[in-house]
Amino acid sequence: MSTDLHVEGGSPATAETDAVVVGLLPASGDDSAPRLAPGAEDVGEAFRDADAALPALLAIAGASGKADEVVKLPTRGAITAPLLVAVGLGDVEANGAPGHEAVRRASGAAARALAGTGSAVSTLGRIDLAAAAEGTLLGAYTFTDYRSNGAGRAPVGRVGLLADGAHGDAAEILRAATGVAQAVRTARDLVNTPPNDLFPETFAARARELAEAAGIEVEVLAGDELAEGGYGGVLGVGQGSSRGPRLVRLRYSGGAAPRATVALIGKGVTFDTGGISIKPAANMDHMTSDMGGAAAVIAATVAAARLELPVAVTATVPMAENMPSATAYRPGDVLRMYGGRTVEVLNTDAEGRLILADAIARAAEDAPDYLIETSTLTGAQQIALGLRTAGVMGSDEFRDRVAALGRATGEDAWAMPLPPHLRGELDSRVADIANVTGTRWGGMLVAGTFLREFVPADLPWAHIDIAGPSFHTGAPYGYTTKGGTGVPVRTLVAVLSDIAANG
Ligand code: BES
Ligand code: MN
Ligand code: ZN
Repeated sequence: MSTDLHVEGGSPATAETDAVVVGLLPASGDDSAPRLAPGAEDVGEAFRDADAALPALLAIAGASGKADEVVKLPTRGAITAPLLVAVGLGDVEANGAPGHEAVRRASGAAARALAGTGSAVSTLGRIDLAAAAEGTLLGAYTFTDYRSNGAGRAPVGRVGLLADGAHGDAAEILRAATGVAQAVRTARDLVNTPPNDLFPETFAARARELAEAAGIEVEVLAGDELAEGGYGGVLGVGQGSSRGPRLVRLRYSGGAAPRATVALIGKGVTFDTGGISIKPAANMDHMTSDMGGAAAVIAATVAAARLELPVAVTATVPMAENMPSATAYRPGDVLRMYGGRTVEVLNTDAEGRLILADAIARAAEDAPDYLIETSTLTGAQQIALGLRTAGVMGSDEFRDRVAALGRATGEDAWAMPLPPHLRGELDSRVADIANVTGTRWGGMLVAGTFLREFVPADLPWAHIDIAGPSFHTGAPYGYTTKGGTGVPVRTLVAVLSDIAANG
Protein backbone atom coordinates (compact mmCIF):
# COMPACT_ATOMS: atom_id res chain seq x y z
CA MET A 1 0.00 0.00 0.00
CA SER A 2 1.58 3.28 -0.92
CA THR A 3 0.80 6.95 -0.59
CA ASP A 4 -0.18 9.07 -3.57
CA LEU A 5 1.79 12.31 -3.55
CA HIS A 6 1.09 15.38 -5.65
CA VAL A 7 1.76 19.10 -5.70
CA GLU A 8 -1.10 21.53 -5.38
CA GLY A 9 -1.74 25.26 -5.16
CA GLY A 10 -4.57 27.08 -3.44
CA SER A 11 -5.17 27.74 0.22
CA PRO A 12 -4.89 25.04 2.87
CA ALA A 13 -7.67 26.85 4.76
CA THR A 14 -10.25 25.89 2.14
CA ALA A 15 -8.76 22.62 0.89
CA GLU A 16 -11.24 19.71 0.76
CA THR A 17 -9.17 17.21 2.69
CA ASP A 18 -9.18 15.21 5.92
CA ALA A 19 -6.23 17.00 7.49
CA VAL A 20 -3.92 19.99 7.07
CA VAL A 21 -0.29 19.80 8.18
CA VAL A 22 1.48 22.90 9.48
CA GLY A 23 5.01 23.33 10.79
CA LEU A 24 5.77 24.76 14.22
CA LEU A 25 8.87 26.56 15.43
CA PRO A 26 9.87 26.96 19.09
CA ALA A 27 8.76 30.14 20.85
CA SER A 28 11.08 33.11 20.40
CA GLY A 29 11.73 36.07 22.66
CA ASP A 30 9.11 36.60 25.34
CA ASP A 31 6.47 34.46 23.60
CA SER A 32 5.35 31.35 25.41
CA ALA A 33 3.54 29.80 22.45
CA PRO A 34 5.31 28.18 19.52
CA ARG A 35 5.29 30.04 16.21
CA LEU A 36 3.63 28.90 13.02
CA ALA A 37 6.33 28.04 10.48
CA PRO A 38 6.46 29.75 7.09
CA GLY A 39 3.80 28.36 4.76
CA ALA A 40 1.13 28.20 7.48
CA GLU A 41 0.23 31.91 7.35
CA ASP A 42 -3.17 31.44 5.69
CA VAL A 43 -4.09 28.71 8.18
CA GLY A 44 -3.23 31.05 11.05
CA GLU A 45 -5.33 33.77 9.43
CA ALA A 46 -8.34 31.48 9.03
CA PHE A 47 -8.17 30.64 12.74
CA ARG A 48 -7.96 34.35 13.60
CA ASP A 49 -11.02 34.98 11.42
CA ALA A 50 -12.77 32.38 13.59
CA ASP A 51 -11.61 34.26 16.70
CA ALA A 52 -9.05 31.64 17.65
CA ALA A 53 -5.30 32.11 18.10
CA LEU A 54 -3.84 28.95 16.60
CA PRO A 55 -0.40 29.12 18.32
CA ALA A 56 -2.09 29.62 21.70
CA LEU A 57 -4.47 26.69 21.08
CA LEU A 58 -1.54 24.50 20.10
CA ALA A 59 0.37 25.56 23.22
CA ILE A 60 -2.61 24.50 25.36
CA ALA A 61 -2.54 21.14 23.58
CA GLY A 62 1.11 20.80 24.61
CA ALA A 63 2.89 21.89 21.43
CA SER A 64 6.30 23.53 21.79
CA GLY A 65 7.67 23.34 18.24
CA LYS A 66 10.50 20.98 19.08
CA ALA A 67 11.60 18.41 16.53
CA ASP A 68 9.64 15.15 16.29
CA GLU A 69 6.63 16.58 18.15
CA VAL A 70 3.18 16.00 16.60
CA VAL A 71 0.04 17.65 18.01
CA LYS A 72 -3.41 17.07 16.53
CA LEU A 73 -6.19 19.63 16.87
CA PRO A 74 -9.84 19.47 15.76
CA THR A 75 -10.44 22.59 13.66
CA ARG A 76 -14.15 23.08 14.52
CA GLY A 77 -14.76 24.79 11.19
CA ALA A 78 -11.96 27.35 11.38
CA ILE A 79 -10.61 25.73 8.22
CA THR A 80 -12.40 23.33 5.87
CA ALA A 81 -10.40 20.27 6.96
CA PRO A 82 -11.65 18.77 10.25
CA LEU A 83 -8.15 18.03 11.57
CA LEU A 84 -5.01 20.11 11.95
CA VAL A 85 -1.71 18.29 12.42
CA ALA A 86 1.06 20.51 13.80
CA VAL A 87 4.60 19.14 13.57
CA GLY A 88 7.61 20.57 15.33
CA LEU A 89 10.54 21.65 13.15
CA GLY A 90 12.92 22.40 16.02
CA ASP A 91 15.36 25.28 16.05
CA VAL A 92 15.92 27.17 12.81
CA GLU A 93 19.35 27.21 11.17
CA ALA A 94 21.73 30.18 11.07
CA ASN A 95 19.83 31.67 8.10
CA GLY A 96 16.65 31.82 10.17
CA ALA A 97 14.87 29.06 8.22
CA PRO A 98 14.34 25.37 9.04
CA GLY A 99 16.98 23.11 7.41
CA HIS A 100 16.27 20.42 4.80
CA GLU A 101 16.53 17.62 7.32
CA ALA A 102 14.17 19.36 9.75
CA VAL A 103 11.52 19.58 7.02
CA ARG A 104 12.17 15.99 5.95
CA ARG A 105 11.80 14.71 9.52
CA ALA A 106 8.74 16.79 10.31
CA SER A 107 7.09 15.61 7.10
CA GLY A 108 7.92 12.03 8.03
CA ALA A 109 6.51 12.44 11.54
CA ALA A 110 3.34 13.97 10.08
CA ALA A 111 2.97 11.13 7.58
CA ARG A 112 3.28 8.56 10.38
CA ALA A 113 0.72 10.43 12.49
CA LEU A 114 -1.65 10.44 9.50
CA ALA A 115 -1.61 6.65 9.03
CA GLY A 116 -5.13 5.46 8.27
CA THR A 117 -6.26 8.93 7.13
CA GLY A 118 -7.68 9.28 3.63
CA SER A 119 -6.06 12.52 2.55
CA ALA A 120 -4.01 15.45 3.78
CA VAL A 121 -2.60 18.73 2.54
CA SER A 122 0.81 19.83 3.82
CA THR A 123 2.05 23.39 4.07
CA LEU A 124 5.58 22.05 4.60
CA GLY A 125 5.91 21.82 0.81
CA ARG A 126 6.06 25.62 0.79
CA ILE A 127 9.23 25.56 2.91
CA ASP A 128 11.13 22.87 0.99
CA LEU A 129 9.25 20.84 -1.59
CA ALA A 130 11.92 18.18 -2.13
CA ALA A 131 12.41 17.58 1.59
CA ALA A 132 8.67 17.50 2.24
CA ALA A 133 8.18 14.98 -0.57
CA GLU A 134 10.99 12.70 0.59
CA GLY A 135 10.02 12.91 4.23
CA THR A 136 6.35 12.21 3.49
CA LEU A 137 7.03 9.16 1.32
CA LEU A 138 9.57 7.74 3.77
CA GLY A 139 7.45 8.39 6.87
CA ALA A 140 4.42 6.86 5.16
CA TYR A 141 6.34 3.66 4.48
CA THR A 142 4.79 0.50 5.88
CA PHE A 143 5.73 -3.13 5.40
CA THR A 144 2.68 -5.34 5.78
CA ASP A 145 3.49 -8.27 3.47
CA TYR A 146 3.64 -10.56 6.49
CA ARG A 147 0.62 -9.19 8.42
CA SER A 148 -2.60 -11.13 8.12
CA ASN A 149 -4.39 -7.88 9.05
CA GLY A 150 -2.36 -5.69 6.70
CA ALA A 151 -5.42 -3.79 5.51
CA GLY A 152 -5.83 -2.30 8.98
CA ARG A 153 -2.41 -0.67 8.77
CA ALA A 154 -2.82 1.53 5.72
CA PRO A 155 -0.62 4.62 5.36
CA VAL A 156 -2.16 8.02 4.59
CA GLY A 157 -3.86 7.69 1.21
CA ARG A 158 -3.16 10.97 -0.59
CA VAL A 159 -0.95 13.90 0.35
CA GLY A 160 -1.04 17.22 -1.47
CA LEU A 161 2.12 19.23 -0.99
CA LEU A 162 1.47 22.92 -1.29
CA ALA A 163 4.05 24.70 -3.39
CA ASP A 164 4.32 28.31 -4.35
CA GLY A 165 5.92 29.39 -7.58
CA ALA A 166 6.33 27.79 -10.98
CA HIS A 167 4.59 24.45 -11.34
CA GLY A 168 7.07 23.22 -13.96
CA ASP A 169 9.86 23.33 -11.39
CA ALA A 170 7.63 21.70 -8.83
CA ALA A 171 6.96 18.72 -11.10
CA GLU A 172 10.68 18.20 -11.67
CA ILE A 173 11.48 18.50 -7.95
CA LEU A 174 8.74 16.01 -7.15
CA ARG A 175 9.98 13.58 -9.80
CA ALA A 176 13.52 13.59 -8.39
CA ALA A 177 12.39 13.33 -4.76
CA THR A 178 9.96 10.54 -5.57
CA GLY A 179 12.66 8.66 -7.45
CA VAL A 180 15.00 8.79 -4.46
CA ALA A 181 12.26 7.94 -1.96
CA GLN A 182 11.13 5.02 -4.10
CA ALA A 183 14.68 3.67 -4.07
CA VAL A 184 14.82 3.96 -0.28
CA ARG A 185 11.50 2.13 -0.02
CA THR A 186 12.79 -0.64 -2.31
CA ALA A 187 15.86 -1.09 -0.10
CA ARG A 188 13.66 -1.15 3.03
CA ASP A 189 11.41 -3.80 1.48
CA LEU A 190 14.39 -6.02 0.70
CA VAL A 191 15.83 -5.64 4.21
CA ASN A 192 12.43 -6.25 5.81
CA THR A 193 11.80 -9.46 3.89
CA PRO A 194 12.57 -12.29 6.33
CA PRO A 195 15.53 -14.57 5.70
CA ASN A 196 13.40 -17.67 5.09
CA ASP A 197 12.06 -15.92 1.99
CA LEU A 198 15.04 -13.75 1.06
CA PHE A 199 18.12 -15.92 0.50
CA PRO A 200 20.75 -15.65 -2.24
CA GLU A 201 18.66 -17.27 -4.99
CA THR A 202 15.49 -15.27 -4.28
CA PHE A 203 17.44 -12.08 -3.55
CA ALA A 204 19.16 -12.40 -6.92
CA ALA A 205 15.79 -13.01 -8.57
CA ARG A 206 14.40 -9.84 -7.02
CA ALA A 207 17.46 -7.88 -8.13
CA ARG A 208 16.88 -9.21 -11.64
CA GLU A 209 13.21 -8.15 -11.61
CA LEU A 210 14.07 -4.66 -10.38
CA ALA A 211 16.83 -4.29 -12.96
CA GLU A 212 14.74 -5.54 -15.85
CA ALA A 213 11.85 -3.27 -14.91
CA ALA A 214 14.27 -0.33 -15.08
CA GLY A 215 15.77 -1.52 -18.37
CA ILE A 216 19.26 -2.23 -17.08
CA GLU A 217 21.50 -5.20 -17.76
CA VAL A 218 21.72 -7.96 -15.18
CA GLU A 219 23.91 -11.02 -14.80
CA VAL A 220 23.68 -13.61 -12.01
CA LEU A 221 26.53 -16.03 -11.28
CA ALA A 222 25.89 -19.22 -9.29
CA GLY A 223 27.50 -22.58 -8.53
CA ASP A 224 29.98 -23.65 -11.21
CA GLU A 225 30.17 -20.16 -12.65
CA LEU A 226 31.42 -18.88 -9.30
CA ALA A 227 33.90 -21.77 -9.07
CA GLU A 228 35.17 -21.25 -12.61
CA GLY A 229 35.47 -17.52 -11.97
CA GLY A 230 37.54 -18.15 -8.84
CA TYR A 231 35.23 -16.45 -6.37
CA GLY A 232 36.70 -18.20 -3.33
CA GLY A 233 35.38 -15.70 -0.80
CA VAL A 234 31.76 -15.95 -1.90
CA LEU A 235 31.97 -19.73 -2.20
CA GLY A 236 33.72 -20.16 1.16
CA VAL A 237 31.20 -18.10 3.10
CA GLY A 238 28.26 -19.63 1.22
CA GLN A 239 29.26 -23.28 1.46
CA GLY A 240 27.67 -23.90 4.87
CA SER A 241 24.17 -23.12 3.64
CA SER A 242 21.79 -25.34 1.71
CA ARG A 243 20.98 -22.16 -0.21
CA GLY A 244 23.96 -21.52 -2.44
CA PRO A 245 25.60 -18.12 -2.93
CA ARG A 246 25.21 -15.79 -5.90
CA LEU A 247 27.07 -12.87 -7.43
CA VAL A 248 24.77 -10.35 -9.07
CA ARG A 249 25.99 -7.69 -11.48
CA LEU A 250 23.83 -4.83 -12.69
CA ARG A 251 24.94 -2.45 -15.41
CA TYR A 252 23.43 0.95 -16.15
CA SER A 253 25.08 2.61 -19.15
CA GLY A 254 24.65 6.21 -18.04
CA GLY A 255 23.02 7.16 -21.33
CA ALA A 256 24.76 8.55 -24.40
CA ALA A 257 27.53 10.52 -22.70
CA PRO A 258 28.24 9.36 -19.15
CA ARG A 259 30.45 11.71 -17.18
CA ALA A 260 32.27 8.89 -15.35
CA THR A 261 31.99 5.22 -14.41
CA VAL A 262 31.27 4.16 -10.85
CA ALA A 263 31.51 0.69 -9.33
CA LEU A 264 29.06 0.04 -6.51
CA ILE A 265 29.46 -2.96 -4.23
CA GLY A 266 27.14 -4.04 -1.41
CA LYS A 267 27.35 -6.81 1.18
CA GLY A 268 24.53 -9.28 0.66
CA VAL A 269 24.66 -11.70 3.58
CA THR A 270 21.02 -12.74 3.70
CA PHE A 271 21.48 -14.09 7.22
CA ASP A 272 24.57 -14.04 9.40
CA THR A 273 24.64 -16.65 12.14
CA GLY A 274 28.38 -16.14 12.44
CA GLY A 275 28.94 -19.62 11.00
CA ILE A 276 31.12 -21.99 13.03
CA SER A 277 32.27 -18.93 15.03
CA ILE A 278 28.60 -18.70 15.93
CA LYS A 279 26.98 -15.56 17.34
CA PRO A 280 25.17 -15.48 20.71
CA ALA A 281 21.38 -15.95 20.50
CA ALA A 282 20.48 -12.47 21.78
CA ASN A 283 19.40 -10.26 18.87
CA MET A 284 20.65 -12.72 16.29
CA ASP A 285 17.40 -12.01 14.43
CA HIS A 286 18.84 -8.59 13.54
CA MET A 287 21.17 -10.41 11.18
CA THR A 288 18.28 -10.61 8.71
CA SER A 289 19.48 -7.10 7.84
CA ASP A 290 23.02 -8.16 6.95
CA MET A 291 22.20 -7.57 3.28
CA GLY A 292 21.39 -3.88 3.79
CA GLY A 293 24.42 -2.79 1.76
CA ALA A 294 23.39 -5.00 -1.14
CA ALA A 295 19.82 -3.73 -0.98
CA ALA A 296 21.01 -0.11 -1.04
CA VAL A 297 23.37 -0.69 -3.95
CA ILE A 298 20.70 -2.44 -6.02
CA ALA A 299 18.15 0.28 -5.26
CA ALA A 300 20.61 3.10 -5.99
CA THR A 301 21.64 1.57 -9.32
CA VAL A 302 18.01 1.24 -10.36
CA ALA A 303 17.40 4.84 -9.20
CA ALA A 304 20.33 6.11 -11.30
CA ALA A 305 18.70 4.51 -14.34
CA ARG A 306 15.22 5.82 -13.53
CA LEU A 307 16.58 9.32 -12.93
CA GLU A 308 18.66 8.97 -16.13
CA LEU A 309 21.80 10.22 -14.37
CA PRO A 310 24.65 10.70 -16.86
CA VAL A 311 26.98 8.35 -15.01
CA ALA A 312 27.69 4.71 -15.81
CA VAL A 313 27.10 2.42 -12.84
CA THR A 314 28.11 -1.19 -12.44
CA ALA A 315 26.89 -2.86 -9.26
CA THR A 316 28.64 -6.00 -8.04
CA VAL A 317 26.63 -7.68 -5.31
CA PRO A 318 27.84 -10.84 -3.56
CA MET A 319 25.09 -12.79 -1.80
CA ALA A 320 25.55 -15.61 0.69
CA GLU A 321 23.98 -17.07 3.81
CA ASN A 322 26.51 -17.59 6.63
CA MET A 323 25.51 -20.84 8.36
CA PRO A 324 27.22 -23.39 10.62
CA SER A 325 26.89 -26.91 9.22
CA ALA A 326 28.82 -29.99 8.24
CA THR A 327 29.74 -28.25 5.00
CA ALA A 328 30.54 -24.86 6.50
CA TYR A 329 33.94 -23.21 6.17
CA ARG A 330 36.06 -23.37 9.29
CA PRO A 331 38.38 -21.19 11.32
CA GLY A 332 41.78 -22.14 9.91
CA ASP A 333 40.59 -22.53 6.32
CA VAL A 334 42.51 -20.65 3.67
CA LEU A 335 40.42 -19.21 0.85
CA ARG A 336 41.74 -18.21 -2.55
CA MET A 337 39.96 -15.01 -3.48
CA TYR A 338 39.01 -13.70 -6.91
CA GLY A 339 42.27 -12.50 -8.45
CA GLY A 340 44.41 -15.07 -6.61
CA ARG A 341 45.17 -13.63 -3.20
CA THR A 342 44.82 -15.96 -0.21
CA VAL A 343 43.06 -15.29 3.10
CA GLU A 344 43.33 -17.24 6.32
CA VAL A 345 39.93 -17.41 8.01
CA LEU A 346 40.45 -16.99 11.75
CA ASN A 347 36.83 -16.13 12.48
CA THR A 348 33.94 -17.23 10.26
CA ASP A 349 31.86 -14.33 11.60
CA ALA A 350 34.10 -11.87 9.76
CA GLU A 351 32.44 -13.12 6.57
CA GLY A 352 31.38 -9.84 4.99
CA ARG A 353 34.91 -8.77 4.13
CA LEU A 354 35.48 -12.15 2.44
CA ILE A 355 32.62 -11.90 -0.02
CA LEU A 356 33.38 -8.20 -0.51
CA ALA A 357 37.02 -8.90 -1.34
CA ASP A 358 35.91 -11.01 -4.32
CA ALA A 359 33.43 -8.37 -5.41
CA ILE A 360 35.91 -5.49 -5.08
CA ALA A 361 38.58 -7.37 -7.02
CA ARG A 362 36.08 -8.18 -9.78
CA ALA A 363 34.69 -4.64 -9.91
CA ALA A 364 38.17 -3.10 -10.07
CA GLU A 365 38.95 -5.17 -13.19
CA ASP A 366 36.59 -2.94 -15.15
CA ALA A 367 38.78 0.08 -14.30
CA PRO A 368 36.01 2.33 -12.93
CA ASP A 369 36.71 5.98 -12.08
CA TYR A 370 35.33 5.50 -8.56
CA LEU A 371 34.51 2.55 -6.33
CA ILE A 372 32.00 2.71 -3.49
CA GLU A 373 31.35 -0.26 -1.27
CA THR A 374 28.83 -0.39 1.57
CA SER A 375 28.16 -3.03 4.16
CA THR A 376 26.81 -3.90 7.58
CA LEU A 377 30.38 -4.86 8.30
CA THR A 378 31.23 -4.46 11.98
CA GLY A 379 29.68 -4.20 15.40
CA ALA A 380 32.63 -1.91 16.07
CA GLN A 381 30.99 0.71 13.83
CA GLN A 382 28.09 0.82 16.28
CA ILE A 383 30.47 1.15 19.21
CA ALA A 384 32.47 3.94 17.56
CA LEU A 385 29.73 6.05 15.96
CA GLY A 386 26.44 4.85 17.37
CA LEU A 387 23.36 3.65 15.55
CA ARG A 388 22.72 6.64 13.29
CA THR A 389 26.10 7.62 11.87
CA ALA A 390 27.78 5.61 9.13
CA GLY A 391 31.57 5.29 9.15
CA VAL A 392 33.23 6.23 5.87
CA MET A 393 36.74 5.00 5.06
CA GLY A 394 38.81 4.91 1.86
CA SER A 395 41.02 7.23 -0.17
CA ASP A 396 41.26 10.60 1.61
CA GLU A 397 39.60 12.96 -0.83
CA PHE A 398 36.81 10.73 -2.07
CA ARG A 399 36.06 9.47 1.46
CA ASP A 400 35.59 13.05 2.65
CA ARG A 401 33.40 13.84 -0.36
CA VAL A 402 31.16 10.82 0.30
CA ALA A 403 30.88 11.62 4.02
CA ALA A 404 29.97 15.26 3.32
CA LEU A 405 27.36 14.28 0.73
CA GLY A 406 25.97 11.73 3.17
CA ARG A 407 25.48 14.42 5.78
CA ALA A 408 23.87 16.71 3.21
CA THR A 409 21.20 14.07 2.48
CA GLY A 410 20.36 13.73 6.16
CA GLU A 411 21.90 10.26 6.33
CA ASP A 412 24.59 10.97 8.86
CA ALA A 413 28.12 9.90 7.90
CA TRP A 414 31.57 10.55 9.29
CA ALA A 415 35.05 10.04 7.85
CA MET A 416 37.25 7.54 9.71
CA PRO A 417 40.95 6.75 9.20
CA LEU A 418 42.71 3.59 8.07
CA PRO A 419 45.84 3.76 10.26
CA PRO A 420 48.71 2.01 8.40
CA HIS A 421 49.88 0.00 11.41
CA LEU A 422 46.65 -2.03 11.39
CA ARG A 423 47.74 -3.87 8.26
CA GLY A 424 50.52 -5.60 10.19
CA GLU A 425 48.02 -6.98 12.66
CA LEU A 426 46.34 -8.83 9.80
CA ASP A 427 49.50 -10.76 8.89
CA SER A 428 48.75 -14.46 8.59
CA ARG A 429 50.85 -17.45 9.61
CA VAL A 430 50.09 -19.21 6.31
CA ALA A 431 48.27 -16.94 3.86
CA ASP A 432 48.64 -13.45 2.35
CA ILE A 433 46.37 -11.96 4.98
CA ALA A 434 44.10 -13.05 7.85
CA ASN A 435 40.47 -11.97 8.08
CA VAL A 436 40.72 -10.71 11.68
CA THR A 437 43.34 -9.45 14.13
CA GLY A 438 43.93 -10.90 17.56
CA THR A 439 42.18 -8.02 19.33
CA ARG A 440 38.95 -6.07 19.06
CA TRP A 441 40.55 -2.60 18.96
CA GLY A 442 39.56 -0.47 16.01
CA GLY A 443 37.41 -3.23 14.55
CA MET A 444 35.73 -0.96 12.01
CA LEU A 445 39.09 0.31 10.78
CA VAL A 446 40.55 -3.19 10.66
CA ALA A 447 37.73 -4.28 8.35
CA GLY A 448 38.36 -1.24 6.14
CA THR A 449 42.07 -2.05 6.15
CA PHE A 450 41.30 -5.59 5.02
CA LEU A 451 39.15 -4.33 2.14
CA ARG A 452 41.83 -1.84 1.06
CA GLU A 453 44.06 -4.82 0.16
CA PHE A 454 41.72 -5.56 -2.75
CA VAL A 455 41.39 -2.01 -4.09
CA PRO A 456 43.92 -0.84 -6.72
CA ALA A 457 46.25 1.75 -5.21
CA ASP A 458 45.28 4.65 -7.48
CA LEU A 459 41.49 4.13 -7.50
CA PRO A 460 39.41 6.68 -5.54
CA TRP A 461 37.26 4.55 -3.26
CA ALA A 462 35.01 4.67 -0.23
CA HIS A 463 33.85 2.01 2.21
CA ILE A 464 30.65 2.90 4.11
CA ASP A 465 30.05 0.80 7.23
CA ILE A 466 26.31 0.92 7.93
CA ALA A 467 26.03 -1.71 10.68
CA GLY A 468 24.17 0.78 12.89
CA PRO A 469 22.18 3.05 10.57
CA SER A 470 20.81 0.48 8.10
CA PHE A 471 18.41 -1.15 10.56
CA HIS A 472 16.29 0.54 13.20
CA THR A 473 14.92 -1.43 16.12
CA GLY A 474 13.84 1.45 18.36
CA ALA A 475 10.74 3.62 18.23
CA PRO A 476 10.07 5.30 14.88
CA TYR A 477 11.20 8.94 14.63
CA GLY A 478 10.93 11.47 11.83
CA TYR A 479 10.82 9.53 8.56
CA THR A 480 12.67 6.57 10.08
CA THR A 481 10.36 3.61 10.54
CA LYS A 482 11.11 0.34 12.30
CA GLY A 483 13.29 -2.17 10.46
CA GLY A 484 15.23 -1.42 7.30
CA THR A 485 15.98 2.30 6.97
CA GLY A 486 17.23 2.29 3.39
CA VAL A 487 20.53 3.88 4.49
CA PRO A 488 22.72 4.65 2.52
CA VAL A 489 20.56 4.83 -0.62
CA ARG A 490 20.24 8.61 -0.46
CA THR A 491 23.98 9.02 0.05
CA LEU A 492 24.71 6.78 -2.93
CA VAL A 493 22.26 8.63 -5.18
CA ALA A 494 23.70 11.95 -3.99
CA VAL A 495 27.24 10.81 -4.80
CA LEU A 496 26.18 9.52 -8.23
CA SER A 497 24.38 12.82 -8.92
CA ASP A 498 27.40 14.80 -7.77
CA ILE A 499 29.71 12.76 -10.00
CA ALA A 500 27.25 13.18 -12.88
CA ALA A 501 27.41 16.95 -12.40
CA ASN A 502 31.06 17.47 -11.50
CA GLY A 503 32.97 14.37 -12.60
N1 BES B 1 27.22 -8.59 10.22
C1 BES B 1 28.18 -8.45 11.24
C2 BES B 1 28.33 -7.01 11.72
C3 BES B 1 27.15 -6.39 12.40
C4 BES B 1 27.02 -6.44 13.77
C5 BES B 1 26.17 -5.74 11.66
C6 BES B 1 25.94 -5.85 14.38
C7 BES B 1 25.09 -5.16 12.27
C8 BES B 1 24.96 -5.22 13.65
C9 BES B 1 29.53 -8.92 10.76
O1 BES B 1 29.53 -9.95 9.84
C10 BES B 1 30.27 -9.43 11.96
O2 BES B 1 29.85 -10.41 12.50
N2 BES B 1 31.36 -8.76 12.32
C11 BES B 1 32.13 -9.15 13.44
C12 BES B 1 33.59 -9.06 13.05
C13 BES B 1 34.52 -9.64 14.08
C14 BES B 1 34.37 -11.15 14.09
C15 BES B 1 35.93 -9.25 13.73
C16 BES B 1 31.82 -8.21 14.59
O3 BES B 1 31.65 -7.01 14.34
O4 BES B 1 31.70 -8.67 15.71
MN1 MN C 1 29.48 -11.85 10.76
ZN1 ZN D 1 27.82 -10.11 8.66
